[in-house]
Amino acid sequence: MSLRRLFKKEKQEHRIMREYIARAGQLVPEYHRPTLECPHPERWSMYDSMTAEVEVLEFLRTLVTTIKPSLVVETGTFMGVSTLWIAEAMRLNGFGRIISCEYDPKVFAAAKEKIDASEFRDLIDLRNESSLEMKVDGTIDLFFSDSDMPIREQEVRRYLPQISPFGLILMHDASSHLKQVREAALKLEREGLISVVMLPTPRGLVVAQKREGRK
Ligand SMILES: C[S@@+](CC[C@H](N)C(=O)[O-])C[C@H]1O[C@@H](n2cnc3c(N)ncnc32)[C@H](O)[C@@H]1O
Repeated sequence: MSLRRLFKKEKQEHRIMREYIARAGQLVPEYHRPTLECPHPERWSMYDSMTAEVEVLEFLRTLVTTIKPSLVVETGTFMGVSTLWIAEAMRLNGFGRIISCEYDPKVFAAAKEKIDASEFRDLIDLRNESSLEMKVDGTIDLFFSDSDMPIREQEVRRYLPQISPFGLILMHDASSHLKQVREAALKLEREGLISVVMLPTPRGLVVAQKREGRK
């Protein structure tokens, strides 16, 4: 371990990124704590605690082949794993592109290297900027909010006008244990902005749609 790492607290994203690289794609059982809605998290698998659960990645891929979005926006790239699963589905669809943002320059550089080396790079627009500053043109068909938990509500509010009424909004980390994102989603629902369904996964996943899409 380097002296710098020993004496300076390492940023969580950088530690998990290091572990992700060391594990070289090996899966482990999900270890987030059991919740009322998901009492057996160990039945799910994960690469690491930042990347979405493997089953959620599978769900994302199937969702993209099911609703065939032209434009997907993802906040929080981390190592680009979810970005690549979404892009793979877009390749199957034969069209579509994904914009993904990662504000940490070190994490962004690692994700960019991985994505540049992949066969899906032409479908991915990777941005080294904050989700709260990024500008996106056009209508968003699928919005995947997976950045920092305290800003998820702000993110959804920020992009809501651009999200298609028939599109979908996904908010990850919405379990009853992680609370913050779950409460944000319920607040947006109480305000009449979106309608939510909460999937009982280890970290929780909200699937939502704008109210105006429920016609
Ligand atoms: C949970 S991880 C994303 C995991 C990824 N979506 C996956 O499943 O493979 C969250 C990432 O969001 C980044 N992040 C945090 N706040 C952000 C912001 N405001 N804008 C963009 N990225 C942000 C963090 O640096 C971290 O890498």
